[in-house]
Amino acid sequence: MKALVLSGGMGTRLRPLTHSMAKQLVPVANKPVLVHCLENIRDIGVTEVGIVVGDHAEEIATEIGDGSDLGLRITYLRQEAPLGLGHCVVIAREFLGDEDFVMYLGDNVLAEGIAEAADAFATRRPAAQVVVTKVLDPRQYGVAEVGEDQVVRALVEKPRRPRSDLAVIGVYFFTARIHDAVRAVPPSARGELEITDAIQHLVDQGRTVTAVEHSGYWQDTGRTDGLLECNRVLLDRVETAVRGQVDQDSVLDGPVVVEHGATVVRSRLTGPLVVGSGAVVQDSRIGPHTSLGANCTVNGSDVEDSILLRGAVLDGVGPVRASLLGRGSQVTSPPGTRAHQLVVGDDCRAVVA
Ligand code: TTP
Repeated sequence: MKALVLSGGMGTRLRPLTHSMAKQLVPVANKPVLVHCLENIRDIGVTEVGIVVGDHAEEIATEIGDGSDLGLRITYLRQEAPLGLGHCVVIAREFLGDEDFVMYLGDNVLAEGIAEAADAFATRRPAAQVVVTKVLDPRQYGVAEVGEDQVVRALVEKPRRPRSDLAVIGVYFFTARIHDAVRAVPPSARGELEITDAIQHLVDQGRTVTAVEHSGYWQDTGRTDGLLECNRVLLDRVETAVRGQVDQDSVLDGPVVVEHGATVVRSRLTGPLVVGSGAVVQDSRIGPHTSLGANCTVNGSDVEDSILLRGAVLDGVGPVRASLLGRGSQVTSPPGTRAHQLVVGDDCRAVVA
């Protein structure tokens, strides 16, 4: 079996971060979403991985490399434009050959891995298998109508009147039958080659398509709220590990990770939280569910439930909550400042208290 990981796309819902970086490289609990995904693939014993990349191709290749660190062999497949999930299968045809493969959306996190779904596919070996999870409002998702014996009767994209509460999530298992299907269906009204249409085509052809229900935590990190929720859930699993310097005037409470080269001075850290390597925290209060990336500076501030990407600076501000700071961004309040002074780039959001 091979794996096809989709890391192209526009990432419009995660602007402004995606103006300058791939959303799949945004860290949750200080590890890029894409690395969480590749680890899950490695854990089911798959080593040949094709990663579909778009405009951020170079950055992804620099960050992930040839995959040997993760025990994988990675081939990058360039998609000239985000023409749909089905189009990704079309451009990967040569890489995939006639092997079975797992297709994994590079912005999806499945915290307990994909072993259960992989076993179900290997045992039953349908033409295709989708992974589903129960959701409160299925109207925003691709929805699977599943009959007896977990056989999919129909897949409907964002139905107005959903006939089930089972949303299709970002991990699919395919046999080589999918290749004819992605070629048989036309692009949708939004101009994309939809994988949902290709799978429905298999159903219409009388092929067996099954659904397995994912019992663990799943999140699409393509939106800020999803990203922050995922960060909270993954941080809830960390255990205390202090590898950096924490002075005697600081108090650590709950699970706290302080990475090598990080410094904590006169501060209160209430976990779960992670302080990345080289970060400096001084005279501050860091609250639960916060990830500080490498080389961040937090001085005289109060932050909780937030993600700071590497090199971000918070100086003299707080309370900061449910916030996402991009690489090298600065939020400061020097003494004597009387008015908000904002230099805010395209598509940014700032909520000022
Ligand atoms: P989406 O989140 O559905 O699409 P997107 O990345 O364009 O995001 P937005 O809607 O915010 O603009 O894509 C799911 C995953 O698949 C994501 O990791 C990007 C990837 N993808 C591709 O690699 N190629 C494509 O043509 C599309 C549509 C998505």
